[in-house]
Amino acid sequence: MRLRLRTLLLGAFAAGGGYWLWRYLQPERSTLVLNDSVVIITGASSGIGRAYAQGFARRGAKVVLAARRAEVLEEVRSEIEPYAADVLVVPTDIRKDSQLRALVSKTLKKFGRIDIVVNNAGLAMHGPLQGEPLDQIRALVDTNLSSAMTLTALCLPTMLSQRSGWIVNISSMAGLMEMPFHVVYGPVKRGLISFSDTLRRQLDGTGIEVVSVLPTYTDTELVTSETRQWLHKTGFSIDTPQYVVERTLDGMLKHRHNVLFGGQVTAISLWFHRHFPRLGDLGVRAFMTPEVMALNDDTLPEVEGENA
Ligand SMILES: NC(=O)c1ccc[n+]([C@@H]2O[C@H](COP(=O)([O-])OP(=O)(O)OC[C@H]3O[C@@H](n4cnc5c(N)ncnc54)[C@H](OP(=O)(O)O)[C@@H]3O)[C@@H](O)[C@H]2O)c1
Repeated sequence: MRLRLRTLLLGAFAAGGGYWLWRYLQPERSTLVLNDSVVIITGASSGIGRAYAQGFARRGAKVVLAARRAEVLEEVRSEIEPYAADVLVVPTDIRKDSQLRALVSKTLKKFGRIDIVVNNAGLAMHGPLQGEPLDQIRALVDTNLSSAMTLTALCLPTMLSQRSGWIVNISSMAGLMEMPFHVVYGPVKRGLISFSDTLRRQLDGTGIEVVSVLPTYTDTELVTSETRQWLHKTGFSIDTPQYVVERTLDGMLKHRHNVLFGGQVTAISLWFHRHFPRLGDLGVRAFMTPEVMALNDDTLPEVEGENA
């Protein structure tokens, strides 16, 4: 008995030592020093992307602004120019590979390196699958997932040669909770989480880190006035884009794999969802009344006077 205990203790000690040695021998992780770091942000013309541009600029980064609306990007440039280390505007439609290539080559031509890529640009879609126009389904998958993968693929050779970098993928809590009105958006956001987790394993030991950011409702153009009314009625809070940015930077500093939002209520619902899926189904059935479904259906005609 005593011999077995001693073997057990020695085994645990050896395993602990082995793990420590393995960690010690790993290449050094990149630290979050933003001074003069080069950050590409997609969807930088509004909402969360614009707030990322402000947040990274305030910390002294060189910021590359990408989105389709060139004139709005110029507004963002003049907003952040006083405190950013440098700013480059590259009007880009991320669904076009040639424009993504141009984004990367213009960044490298001006700054010579890429430290952080924030895959933020995205579209939203709410409503029953059969009501969605087919081209919009493809556009959403393309914008929210395929383009993030393509831009990342284009930036990786530079990051690998630097032996440092960050890929920041803006997913959503909708990717973890199967809400019936998010039948396209939710699975695509889950795909982005899975992309982050898989890529992190591919890049293990290279000095490049990957983080998923999963906001809940955030005060941007993406949230319709109907959804705002529903959130107000049900007492759900809505985060500011600045809060999403601060939490992201904090998560990067702490080398988190996921930055989750929504507080305890969301955490508890997720736990139920994962461990008691049938109960989750019942909860969704009780909560998703026809009124709630209608408020979250952008295939229905808008109520007059309300803007989407
Ligand atoms: N707001 C929320 O409640 C919420 C919650 C969870 C997750 N998110 C995620 O957060 C991210 C940012 O959304 P947001 O709330 O800030 O919405 P937003 O204000 O509508 O911003 C979306 C951005 O994506 C850009 N974009 C769309 N299609 C593009 C394309 N083909 N090429 C380049 N840029 C494109 C838009 O710029 P242009 O129109 O100028 O191209 C815009 O800057 C999205 O991925 C969204 O899914 C948002």
